[in-house]
Amino acid sequence: MSVLIRGRGLTRRYPMPKTHLFEKQAFTTGLEDADIDVREGSAVGLIGESGSGKSTLVRLLLALDTPSAGALEFDGRPVDASASARSLHWLRKQTGIVFQDPYASLDPRMSVGRIVGEPLWALGIDGDRRARVREVLEDVGLEADMADRFPHEFSGGQRQRIALARAIVHRPRLLVGDEPLSALDVTVRAQILELLGELRVRDGLTLLMVSHDIGVVQNLCDEVVVMKDGRIVEEGPTEKVLLQPQVSYTRRLLASIPVIENGT
Ligand SMILES: Nc1ncnc2c1ncn2[C@@H]1O[C@H](COP(=O)(O)OP(=O)(O)OP(=O)(O)O)[C@@H](O)[C@H]1O
Ligand SMILES: [Mg+2]
Repeated sequence: MSVLIRGRGLTRRYPMPKTHLFEKQAFTTGLEDADIDVREGSAVGLIGESGSGKSTLVRLLLALDTPSAGALEFDGRPVDASASARSLHWLRKQTGIVFQDPYASLDPRMSVGRIVGEPLWALGIDGDRRARVREVLEDVGLEADMADRFPHEFSGGQRQRIALARAIVHRPRLLVGDEPLSALDVTVRAQILELLGELRVRDGLTLLMVSHDIGVVQNLCDEVVVMKDGRIVEEGPTEKVLLQPQVSYTRRLLASIPVIENGT
């Protein structure tokens, strides 16, 4: 399998607020020297305690933020996150993202059809856009006619399906989720998890999922990347990392989060 996204030495420092005018600028490090390869067709889980740099890493990988240092390639092509929005269209067409909060991520004034179809218009993707919106709503387990309704008419689980439809409407090759299931109750979480697995198989979608829930990672991902204090501290096949973690931090992290079924 070829590498879809390759990050080398990715680093992100955030300027700290100054307490007085002549103070030297101080920085806090969100991510330090991260090397990562996500292979096409794979499903990679990203785990680590709060503040370990997971969201910082996914933002950099999608060029939603600019690294302080390091290099990024998508499908062998260099990505310059500081380039204009228009010159990043080629990357946007191939990527999609779903965030944790299905309430915050949907504009309440827009119909579901407009929300879901927005990437098609914004990225200038031709074809019958309305038909595509109806089709993708059905793909995520909603009804095509829901396009005419508004976000407040839906439950949290349905809203997350809407957010997912929006993230895949333009048929990206890579779908990134930053805790996409954590705000959902157990039943809905299981349904969306199954849906992600189906999309992966049916469309050959590459997945990169941030999750606190080891069950999600175990179920969906074939590789795991573990982060601590802005660094990648361990990575490998899911089975290996979850059952035989090499680093004591990973062992502690796994002990502190929900049970792993090891099949024994
Ligand atoms: N915009 C920002 N400004 C300043 N510091 C930031 C910013 N975003 C993140 N950080 C810092 O960078 C570090 C990594 O944050 P990040 O949000 O990537 O962690 P995370 O692993 O996603 O955590 P969580 O599990 O809580 O979502 C933290 O120390 C955080 O305080
Ligand atoms: Mg985060």
